[in-house]
Amino acid sequence: AESESKGKIGIVGSGLIGKSWAMIFASAGYNVVIYDILPSQVKDALASVKTQLKDLNKSGMLRGSLSADEQVSLISGCSNLHDTVKDAIYVQECVPENLELKEQVFKDMEAFVDDDTILASSTSCIAPSKFTKDLQRRSQCLVAHPTNPPYHAPLVEVVPSEWTNPAFMDNAKKILEEVGQVPVCIKQDSPGFVSNRVQYAIINECWRLVTEGVISAEDIDKVMWAGLGMRYAFIGPLEVMHLNAEGMENYIERYGPTIESVSSTFGPTPNYSGPGLAEMVRQMKELIPLDKLAEQRKRRDDRLAALAKLKQDFDKQ
Ligand code: NAI
Repeated sequence: AESESKGKIGIVGSGLIGKSWAMIFASAGYNVVIYDILPSQVKDALASVKTQLKDLNKSGMLRGSLSADEQVSLISGCSNLHDTVKDAIYVQECVPENLELKEQVFKDMEAFVDDDTILASSTSCIAPSKFTKDLQRRSQCLVAHPTNPPYHAPLVEVVPSEWTNPAFMDNAKKILEEVGQVPVCIKQDSPGFVSNRVQYAIINECWRLVTEGVISAEDIDKVMWAGLGMRYAFIGPLEVMHLNAEGMENYIERYGPTIESVSSTFGPTPNYSGPGLAEMVRQMKELIPLDKLAEQRKRRDDRLAALAKLKQDFDKQ
């Protein structure tokens, strides 16, 4: 009965990200309908989601208060776009990262939805204005960019275009919060949004330090997971500053000049080709041979799931 009152969510594209969104919305009791241009993909996605929810349940990592079976029963497949998005309160587009494709899919979707349906794209880096500018319902469109793996890393960057109706931003944020994600609002056009910009700043400096021979690839990764990453799992860099002195102002008094002088040695964006690349590839293959990637991904996902659980338990206290 609860499922009936919750409303319908449409998922368009049922690859890696579409499947994750389906499980997230079902965990909060929404009726989820998934669609894909390949009917076989819908069938595979339903089977995969079922297995994943049961496994999550077994390991105590299932989100929400419904049982795995209840969550499975909330997710259904559909072979056409019309029935997937019609009467949905929220649609999450998850088709491949291609501007023309997104343009077409949004054009197709807008013909079938209501005046208050939120049309959200999972795009990692395409500005929403690019694929919504010619739409009738462009005020209903926005980007809701998840973080991989979305089930365990809840950040969602919510990005409006200049014509997105602010009420749709608010409602999207509300729904995302309700299903347990952590939405942040990107207020201005920003290439790469924000999460990837910060990630690229980190990658740039790691790349430079390894290719200039300051540190090995193995050790720079330790700097993150044994050091900075330990605290970033719980507090951000600005709170780190605020707590590591008597507040932000005092931190800057003490360390501001050092930050400026070290940062002035960063130099331009590193070169991602040539001998630097060859050396980086060599070190990474030695650390993790390519035939061990699947194993290492499993290790990563298990650990992320356990961390997500720990964080949830802290939040409940
Ligand atoms: P994917 O390749 O795993 O899945 C895409 C699915 O869309 C496929 O099943 C494909 O058959 C289907 N599809 C293609 N054309 C379609 C159409 N016209 N209508 C309906 N379905 C169609 O891709 P993935 O990784 O799930 O990415 C989806 C989106 O999410 C992309 O925009 C990507 O940038 C974004 N994203 C991906 C992340 C990742 O780590 N993979 C992280 C955050 C965002």
